[in-house]
Amino acid sequence: MKVAIVGYGKMGKLIRREALGLGHEVVAVIDPVAQDPEVTDSHLDASTLNGCTVAIDFTHPSVVVDNIVLYARLGIPAVIGTTGWYDQVAQVREAIDEQSCSIIYSGNFSLGVALFFQVVKYASHLFGKSGLYDPFIQETHHAQKADSPSGTAVMLAQMVLDNTPDKTSIYSDTLHRRREEDEIHVASVRGGSVPGTHTVTFDSQDDTIELTHRARSREGFATGALKAASWITDGRKGFFTLDAMLEDVFLQRESVQ
Ligand SMILES: NC(=O)c1ccc[n+]([C@@H]2O[C@H](COP(=O)([O-])OP(=O)(O)OC[C@H]3O[C@@H](n4cnc5c(N)ncnc54)[C@H](O)[C@@H]3O)[C@@H](O)[C@H]2O)c1
Repeated sequence: MKVAIVGYGKMGKLIRREALGLGHEVVAVIDPVAQDPEVTDSHLDASTLNGCTVAIDFTHPSVVVDNIVLYARLGIPAVIGTTGWYDQVAQVREAIDEQSCSIIYSGNFSLGVALFFQVVKYASHLFGKSGLYDPFIQETHHAQKADSPSGTAVMLAQMVLDNTPDKTSIYSDTLHRRREEDEIHVASVRGGSVPGTHTVTFDSQDDTIELTHRARSREGFATGALKAASWITDGRKGFFTLDAMLEDVFLQRESVQ
């Protein structure tokens, strides 16, 4: 692939390294601020994309919507890793022609997390249907993390909620009271340099089932974004989430016994 990297921050740098390692060509690195010698331009347009076959965008919520519309209008396949714009998905859909664009987006391109989500959905469905298990979620991140709970923990809690008939709400602050029967509690710990650990627990009077995803680095996001780039450039037309790729690449081929 001829890759254009849009946004040369922490993720852009990882993606460039990984893309070159996989034998792809990096034809453009676009960033208005970064001073690195690899940056080829500060401005994103048809010419600075420099004949790329795919653009990989890890920029900022304030610019990503305009970027997506540009990729769609130019017919350039794009992988959108930038987060924080999902309240504008409907507006983006209106502005682009989904039949002719090739765009895939996700707030978490780690394939391990995406598969973990599928496991948690299915497990919640089973445990929720039984009516015997009380689910709760714990997450641990490094001491520098600015927010809590993590976005991933919120997504996990929502999946458990959607699949557990006895639960009606999520509570993610410190509890200074007894938890209500219909609440799912999410707890956060901050310390050390942990890249991110999420555990979903289903507990009954007789036993405990724990499902844990433990990230080792941010490189999993870059690997997933490059896999998504290969998938979207393989003749796909539309405005996809990562779930569509997973369904296509992994899940349809699996028959669970
Ligand atoms: N989807 C995922 O798997 C995943 C994983 C990690 C981070 N993210 C998201 O990706 C985004 C970037 O993360 P990061 O950690 O690399 O942040 P970062 O702050 O290190 O890098 C962002 C870069 O984008 C540049 N930028 C801003 N406006 C731009 C524009 N108009 N054109 C080109 N570049 C522009 C900035 O100058 C900066 O260098 C964030 O939204 C973050 O939440 C997503």
